[in-house]
Amino acid sequence: MSVLEKISSEEIIALENKYGAHNYHPLPVVLSKGEGVYVWDVDGKKYYDFLSAYSAVNQGHCHPKIVGAMMEQAQKLTLTSRAFYNDKLGVYEEYLTKYFGFDKVLPMNTGAEAVETALKLCRKWAYEKKEIPENEAQIIVCDGNFHGRTTTIISFSNDENARKNFGPYTGGFIKIPYDDINALEKAIKSNANIAGFLVEPIQGEAGVYVPADDYLAKAKALCTANNVLFIADEVQTGIARTGKLLAVHHENVQPDILILGKAISGGVYPVSAVLANDNIMNVIKPGQHGSTFGGNPIAAAVAIAALEVVKEEKLAENAERLGKIFRSELNKYIKTSNIATLVRGKGLLNALVINDTEESETAWNICLALRDNGLLAKPTHGNIIRFAPPLVMNEEQLLDCVSIIITTLKQFEK
Ligand SMILES: Cc1ncc(COP(=O)(O)O)c(C=O)c1O
Repeated sequence: MSVLEKISSEEIIALENKYGAHNYHPLPVVLSKGEGVYVWDVDGKKYYDFLSAYSAVNQGHCHPKIVGAMMEQAQKLTLTSRAFYNDKLGVYEEYLTKYFGFDKVLPMNTGAEAVETALKLCRKWAYEKKEIPENEAQIIVCDGNFHGRTTTIISFSNDENARKNFGPYTGGFIKIPYDDINALEKAIKSNANIAGFLVEPIQGEAGVYVPADDYLAKAKALCTANNVLFIADEVQTGIARTGKLLAVHHENVQPDILILGKAISGGVYPVSAVLANDNIMNVIKPGQHGSTFGGNPIAAAVAIAALEVVKEEKLAENAERLGKIFRSELNKYIKTSNIATLVRGKGLLNALVINDTEESETAWNICLALRDNGLLAKPTHGNIIRFAPPLVMNEEQLLDCVSIIITTLKQFEK
């Protein structure tokens, strides 16, 4: 008998507890199958996935076109490293750069790696093009940011749990309040050594904070006027999630550096990318950055298929339309509710704020009840529940989900 046969949920959870590092606190549900907007647990119970692997599975679980591209490529050539050329990477690079309107891409694997890449690129540009004195470059970041888990990235996080006892930290970052254009202007104008401004167009992990309608456009204009690079981290907001291909497109902004991850592969394979024009990207020379798996042929084939699906199935348009219905239906309920205070978001990246403290267990308990009622979601920051279903959802399914959410909330009304 294979070691994977006939294991119950409880046994699988116990194995993870015993043999895996405790760096996550998953909702107790063990999934073994996914298709489109649905996932199934090991006992065959079906759920709506309302998290989409933190917005990586925008195209739906096991999309046949994306999985097909992966299987076809996996049987031909999987990895060459960048020591040699492979016949897929250049084709992918042309497709991706034209898709997003940039001269060049630097391919990586995970979101955090892509953020690190963008920070290195920004610093190198600052020394070689802006002529900031060596080791003096500063990058502005926002309070409440989430850009991943590497040592440099957690160095500028406000989340004590993510930071504490991981020092010494990387310097060279200035933190300002999010969605505060005056703070950005002051920070840029009071220091001649500002190289870049790194920002999430919507702060996802922090609890889906949507900035003012003109924040990104004003921030980009300020950056351009002061020769500061505007770096958009669209790892979570990108690839149609918020109702546009990129969240910056809501304000017609083209970043100087664009960071993509997660849904660029439809969640079937780790793929990330940093895009910029030649005047920036050309500062990177051989040996100065890279990764063994970055730009591998499977990643290239998968990402092309995943991006084609986004256009062919009009996922941005669907996210825009269904997002409006979702917020409007929940808002109707919230008017009469003691347990839910507000819903906010754009497209199908939304959050419900629960009427309790961050330390309370209420949001977690609501997620357990949602699970029992057939819908999977996860709290972020104690009293906020993020709702981000796959973008291939249809209206009937969405309304079914709204009904599950409302029925569940009613169980918690005081
Ligand atoms: C905005 C943002 N940047 C970066 C990351 C890190 O991506 P990864 O977990 O693939 O390293 C995340 C992950 O949630 C994210 O939301």
